[in-house]
Amino acid sequence: MVDIMLYGLGGVGTAFLEKAIEEYDLKKWNIVRVVDSSSEIITITSFSKTDLETIIKHKRSEGSPKLNELQIDGTTEDAKTIMEFIMTNRLNLAIVDATANEAMLETQISAIKLEASVVSVNKAPYASNNENYVRELLASTLNGKVGIRGTVGADLGTPNELIRILNEYKNPSKIEIEGCMSGTLSFMCDELQKGKSYSKSVESAIKKGYPEPIPFMDFSGEDVRNKALILARLIATKYDIGFDNIKINHSSFIGGIASDEYCAEVKNLDKHSFTQRAPELDQAFQQRIEQAGEKALRYIANVKYSKAENSVSIDISLKEVDTSHGLYTLKGTDNMIVFNVDDKISSVGPGPGAGNETTRDAIYNDLNAIFYQKTAWNNNIYILLYILKKIDRDRESKAYSVSKVIQWYLTVLMIR
Ligand SMILES: NC(=O)c1ccc[n+]([C@@H]2O[C@H](COP(=O)([O-])OP(=O)(O)OC[C@H]3O[C@@H](n4cnc5c(N)ncnc54)[C@H](OP(=O)(O)O)[C@@H]3O)[C@@H](O)[C@H]2O)c1
Repeated sequence: MVDIMLYGLGGVGTAFLEKAIEEYDLKKWNIVRVVDSSSEIITITSFSKTDLETIIKHKRSEGSPKLNELQIDGTTEDAKTIMEFIMTNRLNLAIVDATANEAMLETQISAIKLEASVVSVNKAPYASNNENYVRELLASTLNGKVGIRGTVGADLGTPNELIRILNEYKNPSKIEIEGCMSGTLSFMCDELQKGKSYSKSVESAIKKGYPEPIPFMDFSGEDVRNKALILARLIATKYDIGFDNIKINHSSFIGGIASDEYCAEVKNLDKHSFTQRAPELDQAFQQRIEQAGEKALRYIANVKYSKAENSVSIDISLKEVDTSHGLYTLKGTDNMIVFNVDDKISSVGPGPGAGNETTRDAIYNDLNAIFYQKTAWNNNIYILLYILKKIDRDRESKAYSVSKVIQWYLTVLMIR
């Protein structure tokens, strides 16, 4: 059983709990703590399916109710003591970060220091300026102890493909990554190409729940910048390149079309207010589509590593692509990312790059990958122990045989 502490109960976090409820009878997952931006609820045993349903219902009810206002048996006000108990006594503990908060960097670092596993769909900690902490987390990601599958391309496995490349290729002279990494912006490009106006496309993207809580994160391209930065920093961590040396050339999705004033005004707007301002860009986007003619608009990110220059660079912009380009045929929220390592090509997608369910699946895939490795390792030890015990029984060994010492050592390993 894996004990899970879930941070974030928005679209992704509640979708995660819904799937946990479906899978609860399999006894793989045990939710022990849920936390939102202002409150938390924790239990020393495990929340039941009914408890989790109550939490979801409470969280979805009107008036932003606090989690600690909930009456659930076995929960306690003394969260700190219970936290310490759980952190030091549970063997398979995972922190799941489904927030969009950069401050979670410290929480994730504390968790790995206490040998808990971390699964994050939250990009903000990995894009933060605290290089030492980010490097530590990314080094753990390269070792398979931290899962960040959902941070780039929802459940397509983009970071995982890069991690495979970095762990498999000994000394590549170049790595090039090119792709569409935003579900929201892929959707926008597809809708515009179908002849819908910019404002109608924004409205339906928001209705479908694709954009970030502050939509400008997507429409400025900041979200794609963070995704590309995570990939670039994974490479920089592997090859010991300073984060300050990553060159970034980034132009916004609406930047070349909207004025600087407009961008500054919509920067912090919530989904509702952002939608209200969208019609102001309809005409300019219409002209941009006409200018592209037969070509399609795609918001494309490139990440390049050169061994000769010992450098990593990022380039992001809205481009026109023709029918011969691999990204021309992308539809809906699909993302696609192509990797070129010394001219050997691999890719992830096309497939959905946004959505609460697909992002929640990314969390489960990471949890399964992290804990499957541990389980497989433990199973091997069990088999070895069984064989050693059988040998001892068969030959009436002495009290301190070599085999007994190995058995003792393996048991300690397993308990750790
Ligand atoms: N939805 C997608 O398609 C998608 C795809 C890939 C990645 N992601 C990533 O998934 C994450 C969650 O997305 P979402 O759409 O579920 O966001 P959301 O609906 O805005 O939910 C965010 C949740 O985080 C909570 N929170 C904020 N700060 C916190 C803190 N310090 N400690 C604990 N909880 C905190 C919020 O609490 P309150 O409820 O109190 O406000 C809220 O419940 C984001 O990082 C996003 O980038 C989403």
